[in-house]
Amino acid sequence: MGKVIGIVSIKGGVGKTTIAASLAADLVNNCGKKILLIDANYSAPNLGLHMDILLPEKTIHDVLEGRARMKTAAYNRYGVDVVAGSYVYEKKINTLKLKNRINNIRNDYDFIIIDSSPSLNEEVLSAMLASDNLFIVSTPDYPTLSCSMKAAKLAKQRGLRINGIMLNKIKDPKHEISIREIEETLAIPVVASFTENKIHGRALFTRVPVSLYDKKSSFSREIHNLSLALCNKKENKPLWKRIFSFNMKREEVNRQLLKESFNKKY
Ligand SMILES: Nc1ncnc2c1ncn2[C@@H]1O[C@H](COP(=O)(O)OP(=O)(O)OP(=O)(O)O)[C@@H](O)[C@H]1O
Ligand SMILES: [Mg+2]
Repeated sequence: MGKVIGIVSIKGGVGKTTIAASLAADLVNNCGKKILLIDANYSAPNLGLHMDILLPEKTIHDVLEGRARMKTAAYNRYGVDVVAGSYVYEKKINTLKLKNRINNIRNDYDFIIIDSSPSLNEEVLSAMLASDNLFIVSTPDYPTLSCSMKAAKLAKQRGLRINGIMLNKIKDPKHEISIREIEETLAIPVVASFTENKIHGRALFTRVPVSLYDKKSSFSREIHNLSLALCNKKENKPLWKRIFSFNMKREEVNRQLLKESFNKKY
């Protein structure tokens, strides 16, 4: 049965869609997994723009309204089955049906990845409640950290499992909140960190997930490390890194723990 992974935050623009698209593409193309990727940012969907789906005929809105099945609304892009959102939908939809719709197709995939909305309302709750595992995307600044605290609180109140923080858009570490401080504040491990980089703009412009657009970038390598942990596989490290393993980054240690907890049989 496929594991459902929610990529959440209640702050816009932190990189949820970028990470969800790249993780999905990496899991398919570099780990051989079967992936369904869903846009659950119902009021401002844009996953299609990252995955080269410009005018979807069937969308997640149709799936929730019962007018389409998840499978028929999925477009295959870069090997990933993607259910995009409608850019023009205005009627109210019952977003809490997402869990039920996913349950119907769980057996067909290894992982179902949900890209969430940043709105602190039923939209983000829909993604959280439909997920077995949550990752909070944050950036290293105080306004975003306070939003991440709210997201963590919301998930914890519902008894949901938060597997880690993905820290994105690091650009000036000396003048930004450190990974240690983020972990202490949120009491959640940082399992991946990404620097700010202009390849993201280029990848988005060509509508190719960054993990495929520039496979050698530090972003793509970190995404792949995350994929390996989710797939219960060891990271491929160069020899010198294996010899000097006392130099391991915090995120790498956290990923080892993630690998164990994520793949534990309950
Ligand atoms: N590490 C990065 N370096 C530079 N740009 C980035 C990085 N990560 C994401 N971006 C860019 O930041 C913008 C916002 O990213 P994205 O759409 O993934 O955020 P989001 O959290 O999904 O936003 P929303 O909540 O509005 O859906 C995009 O233009 C994306 O290309
Ligand atoms: Mg988004």
